[in-house]
Amino acid sequence: MRDKSPMAAIAEIPGPKGLPLLGSALDLRRDSLDTLLRARREFGDVVRISAGPPGLRSVMHCVFSAEGAQQVLATQTANFRKDNRLYEEIRLSIGNGLLTSQDADYLRQRRLIQPLFTRRQVDGYAAAVTLEAGSMVGRWRTAGDTVVDVNREMDRFALRTVARILFGADIEAAADVVHDHFPVINAYVLRRGLSPVNPPRSWPLPANRRAEEATRAVYAVCDRIIAERRAAGTTAAADDLLSLLSRASSAEDGSLDAAELRDQLLVFLIAGHETTGTSMTFALHLLSLHPEVQARAQEEVDRLAAGRTPSAADLDRLPYLTRVLKEAMRLYPAAPLIGRRSVEAAEVDGHLIPAGADVLVPPWVIHRHPDLWEDPERFAPERFTPEREAARHHYAWFPFGGGPRACIGQHFAMLESVLALAVLLRAYDLEAVDRDISLMAGVTLQATGTARVRLRARAQAR
Ligand code: HEM
Repeated sequence: MRDKSPMAAIAEIPGPKGLPLLGSALDLRRDSLDTLLRARREFGDVVRISAGPPGLRSVMHCVFSAEGAQQVLATQTANFRKDNRLYEEIRLSIGNGLLTSQDADYLRQRRLIQPLFTRRQVDGYAAAVTLEAGSMVGRWRTAGDTVVDVNREMDRFALRTVARILFGADIEAAADVVHDHFPVINAYVLRRGLSPVNPPRSWPLPANRRAEEATRAVYAVCDRIIAERRAAGTTAAADDLLSLLSRASSAEDGSLDAAELRDQLLVFLIAGHETTGTSMTFALHLLSLHPEVQARAQEEVDRLAAGRTPSAADLDRLPYLTRVLKEAMRLYPAAPLIGRRSVEAAEVDGHLIPAGADVLVPPWVIHRHPDLWEDPERFAPERFTPEREAARHHYAWFPFGGGPRACIGQHFAMLESVLALAVLLRAYDLEAVDRDISLMAGVTLQATGTARVRLRARAQAR
């Protein structure tokens, strides 16, 4: 019989030995996603991975089951906090906005910001989304583009859209700055978050310097947005994120100071564009590789649109396209690793996670778990019919996280992506030029290099 004493249970969590001195540090650094997939295959649903030399070794407790993910993210939330190394690194790089804050700070921020993300409010953003998508298509057409890099284009589209909706700003000029510098921060944070030992950020090392420069550059973008809005004097009346936060910052309780305002803006700029851009990039890539899926999605769009721009009310009439997007987000979850730290020892999926442990709940692995998904690497949008969704564990698919800290932007992201994909598919047939895309897993998943697609204007496009 299994000994249930805490020490015995801890010792029972299996995991790879890795190299004698480094544990799994090199594997994690080389390919963190694949290392995690292998760990599940070889050791099961709760696995301990250690990295670094003895004495400085860091240990990650990985939870790979849907049941376990639910326990960590939704059931035992007081015990699993955003105090882990990855979140500490995110905080140090991009400040203490809604994504990273906790406790009273967090509750105050969430209460303040939540009204911008009610379903009704988000539905009101649809017109801005289709306007941006329409102008992107117009730009491609005017330029006579026949091959576009959807990685760059979707990233830009998502950035422009979130900036317009949440900050009332046109940040075309700053888009290159964010596009070029954010990946540096992303990779730096993940590398430090997963490394057993890190040199202090203040040391004049090339990696530190590059990351500091990148942070300075994206902070400057936020400062500029804030300054321009203040100069225009429009923050008092408008009801976008920036106005809401500015009004709060000038309220008597002084609830947000200038630095907090900037941190908040940066979080939304980053969390609100990179993730959606990645999801759309992969959805378009997969559509361009699967002509039969594309044709079916186009039929649905054509039936609906009949020449008119799709609106929020049309989302329910695009169930197949929604399934395509969900399947793309299953295979390429934009937040591939979700992390927490335990306060006290707690049982998760039949294993005892010790107090103070770094816990990783990776959608990347759970979205490919063979007990939950048949033939997991295959692209198959029919996995998301309502019947099949209802039959699956709620945490088999959780690209937006779960529990009280689930993504505040999830309805917005779905609306934005489905409507924009509808606009693009109505205008063009897509054919993949880059059949393989390389990936980088940072705090978010990113396609590195190009994801080129050949466009053919469709007859019914107008
Ligand atoms: C496909 C698109 C997106 C994906 C996959 C995604 C994913 C996630 C995930 C997994 C979390 C939870 C992280 C955790 O529990 O540690 C999260 C939180 C968050 N997301 Fe998103 N996100 C997306 C789009 C957006 C958009 C469009 C916005 C804003 C406009 C946004 C803003 C945020 C914020 C502020 C949080 C923190 C919420 C809180 O803790 O209360 N995200 N997102």
